[in-house]
Amino acid sequence: MGFLTIREFSVAVGTLAGQKADLLVVGVSKDEPRLPAGMASLFTGDANPVRSALASGDFKGDTGETLVVYGASPDHGRVLLLGTGPARDFGLDRVRSVAASAARRARDLGVGRVLFPLPLPGAQAWTRDEQLTAAAEGAILGTWQFPEFKTVDREKFRTVGHLVFCLPEESDAGMAGSALHRGRVRGEGTCFARELAAMPANHLTPAELARVAEQVAREEGLRCSVLDADECEALGMGAFLAVARGSAEPPKFIVLEYDCGRKDAPKIGLVGKALTFDAGGISLKPALGMHDMKYDMAGGAAVLGAMRCLRSLAVPVSVVAAIPATENLPGGRAVKPGDVVRAINGKTIEVLNTDAEGRLVLADALAWMVRNHNPEALIDVATLTGAVVIALGHYGAAVLSNNDGLANRIEAAARASGERTWRLPIWDEFSDHLKGETADLKNIADANAGGGTIAGGAFLREFVDETPWVHLDIAGTAWWEKDRPHLPKGPSGYGVRLLLDLIEGYGSDTRP
Ligand code: BES
Ligand code: MN
Ligand code: ZN
Repeated sequence: MGFLTIREFSVAVGTLAGQKADLLVVGVSKDEPRLPAGMASLFTGDANPVRSALASGDFKGDTGETLVVYGASPDHGRVLLLGTGPARDFGLDRVRSVAASAARRARDLGVGRVLFPLPLPGAQAWTRDEQLTAAAEGAILGTWQFPEFKTVDREKFRTVGHLVFCLPEESDAGMAGSALHRGRVRGEGTCFARELAAMPANHLTPAELARVAEQVAREEGLRCSVLDADECEALGMGAFLAVARGSAEPPKFIVLEYDCGRKDAPKIGLVGKALTFDAGGISLKPALGMHDMKYDMAGGAAVLGAMRCLRSLAVPVSVVAAIPATENLPGGRAVKPGDVVRAINGKTIEVLNTDAEGRLVLADALAWMVRNHNPEALIDVATLTGAVVIALGHYGAAVLSNNDGLANRIEAAARASGERTWRLPIWDEFSDHLKGETADLKNIADANAGGGTIAGGAFLREFVDETPWVHLDIAGTAWWEKDRPHLPKGPSGYGVRLLLDLIEGYGSDTRP
């Protein structure tokens, strides 16, 4: 991956005294905006600047509040007061968020060595190792940048030299090392997905995405195969290929397999929509904002990002991923409204709107997955409908499912990862709205059906048979122009950590 903002991480177990650094983070709770007990001895004298800052009452300890203080401790060039908020409702996402705020401040200062003591005041509901994983994730997520195409002002992209998480004496250094590793892998996997989503479509074509997947496979010990248009044709993927027809860029059907090495392990299937650009096809999108459609491959990026983490995390579950990659353009050979295409499972589809292309590529990928791998659970991730923003805003992804057990597992993974989900129903009326006249199905519902996100789910349900399946509509969560501490504006990498928590859930218990 291109650019990491924190160059080195480590864990130090023992007292803080005697540890020199360019910056020391001091967490301050809103309930008690005072020096944490273990740190009192570092800042001596009533006139000490850290004591004065806290005594003034100016620093409230609000979540993510920061204040840089100079000259407070001979061993530390700077002290960063970091508000951790009230102890009430202190979730792990707050740990991610405040760690991100601190790491960003450190990054913008361009400092070398940073000490970050854990546990945070008020976060006692979580073990130190849980906090460490979340803090590492948050620090990486919060400081991510995308300088790839900048040739001017490059000095504005700053970095942190070394982030040291400091744990109290009695902590187990080995366990802490694993917790740090886990946070790093998850954070970097998410940034990897962000970087792909940020890449412009002329740089990230389907063929280039396939090369990236092959490289990930080499590095992480995964099997990778890439089917070209002829191979997809031979398999009967008429829906996927219909979308690709309007573009000169050859489509790629990318398959990745992670074998955990246990014959009796559960097998999970992932599918990620990867429209490296979606112009809408003949049903062309309006010009305003069309450039955003470079991130219409964010589902594929999330799946690839999660696959990239599995070996490093030694996940005891086998996983197959399919990433159908193509552009959707209005070329001379493009699929036209009214055309009928046949998906790999034999179902015929009348393409009434060529901009509803995500469900076409997913139809073949889902049915291919069911036929070839028969996974215990099948999850697709896709920027499928603008309507999901109407339903949920940018604060969570929609879950559509044919299986309550799997939907509940997703909900648990959402709580653990902080990547929010909300389930919508798939009422049968929506399937009625999708019944075709000329063909078996139409790719858009009747105009008066409403519920665009549900209609998308109802369409996909036709391609999974009885396999427990969840569709995640991430059109609202994949990218946002609002800056949040561990979610800088731009691509979020949404889904990587959610998928990892879901998959790990299968590893840590018996089958559903
Ligand atoms: N890629 C879009 C959905 C999208 C919208 C993603 C906004 C990210 C942000 C998808 O292919 C699409 O065009 N969906 C149509 C469906 C409609 C034609 C039924 C939409 O949402 O308008
Ligand atoms: Mn579209
Ligand atoms: Zn699309």
